[in-house]
Amino acid sequence: MSRAERERQQLRDALLASGAMAPDWVQAYDAVPRALFLPEVMWPAVDGRHPAVVKGDDPQEWERWAARDVSIVTQWDDGRHAGTEPGDRPSSSSSMPGAVFAMFADLSVVDGARVLEVGTGTGWCAALLSARLGEANVVSVEVDAAVADAARKALAAAGWHPEVVTGDGLLGWPERAPYDRVLVTAGVRQVPQAWIDQMRPGGVLVMPWGTRYSGQDAIVRLVVDGDGSASGRFTGLVRFMQLRSQRPAWSAKDYLSGGGWPADTRESETAVAASSILPGDLYSPVPFVMGLLVPDCAHSYGRDKDGTPVLWLYGLADRSWAAVYFYGDTTRWASQVYQGGPRSLWDEVEAAHRWWSEQGRPGHEEFGLTVTADGRQQVWLGEPSALVPQAVTVR
Ligand SMILES: C[S@@+](CC[C@H](N)C(=O)[O-])C[C@H]1O[C@@H](n2cnc3c(N)ncnc32)[C@H](O)[C@@H]1O
Repeated sequence: MSRAERERQQLRDALLASGAMAPDWVQAYDAVPRALFLPEVMWPAVDGRHPAVVKGDDPQEWERWAARDVSIVTQWDDGRHAGTEPGDRPSSSSSMPGAVFAMFADLSVVDGARVLEVGTGTGWCAALLSARLGEANVVSVEVDAAVADAARKALAAAGWHPEVVTGDGLLGWPERAPYDRVLVTAGVRQVPQAWIDQMRPGGVLVMPWGTRYSGQDAIVRLVVDGDGSASGRFTGLVRFMQLRSQRPAWSAKDYLSGGGWPADTRESETAVAASSILPGDLYSPVPFVMGLLVPDCAHSYGRDKDGTPVLWLYGLADRSWAAVYFYGDTTRWASQVYQGGPRSLWDEVEAAHRWWSEQGRPGHEEFGLTVTADGRQQVWLGEPSALVPQAVTVR
């Protein structure tokens, strides 16, 4: 057995042991090696970087990356990018196996279930679904024609023939509806009604869902009601590239022109510590939860030239902005807040953080989402009737 094959089996055992993989997916995992769906040149995610791994340079090393629990970028910049250097924005990838099998577990498929996948990517998930449910029960939609073609070829070469449609997955695929399950493998900001309408009552929709506040998503598992609504809880925190038409469209350059604070800047201080508001790591729930509570706001963070942590907030419905310098964490002075525009965004974030603390700092899994029959997205805490404040409609 090759080292890569041994690592592939070790990953299966680890995913099973952690509970990320449900036992009924083992056979599909064994039948569908991920390596069959990866291109010659690929870019695994390693500590925030994407080094190129070229099969021709070192086939064994390439195989070993394919067997690891990492996401692997397979296309940059909607296909406009060429060469082995990473491009600007990942636009297609093979998702991290741990996240894929966690979503499959949430999907809770039963034999013979009919599944729509949105975001074919490499075709690996479509092959796994075909191995588990039969290829006649699987249809997958991919917006990028070149990605869809490559997936069709990889699927056929591996011996699988689910239907792969080139098109906008936001429209679903009514030709094959109704579905028992819908799986979305790209980050969603607004759930389109088509997905719910194309499902049977009781059907399950699983997707990475998040807000404009950050790129941090949580998997949501929605159960479709007969009245055109769907509701359910968030499960694991994940990070996915977003659906093409729902990508962030703001730029920090549009807010402040540089050269000092504008004349109408409002200055204040805050006692909130950087460590409680800036994401400590990928699995901190704070950015996800702040996004649930503060609508139409994006954030970024970094350090200024002196190493002081800085949080930036950007109003998406207007040009409100805020910058918070967390001197409090590095020196004896209080943290300094600068805000401008019609909204006081830091005040909103601070209030949201206070509310969250008062609730006992619930994790993402205590929140849930309802998509109403008229398309509103309502976030709740604990149970669907307990809507979170300020974000009755999250955009
Ligand atoms: C993370 S990748 C999917 C990974 C895939 N499931 C796999 O196994 O390789 C996300 C994919 O969603 C596609 N996508 C983005 N927006 C889409 C849309 N509106 N409709 C269909 N596909 C979309 C991207 O082109 C990309 O290929």
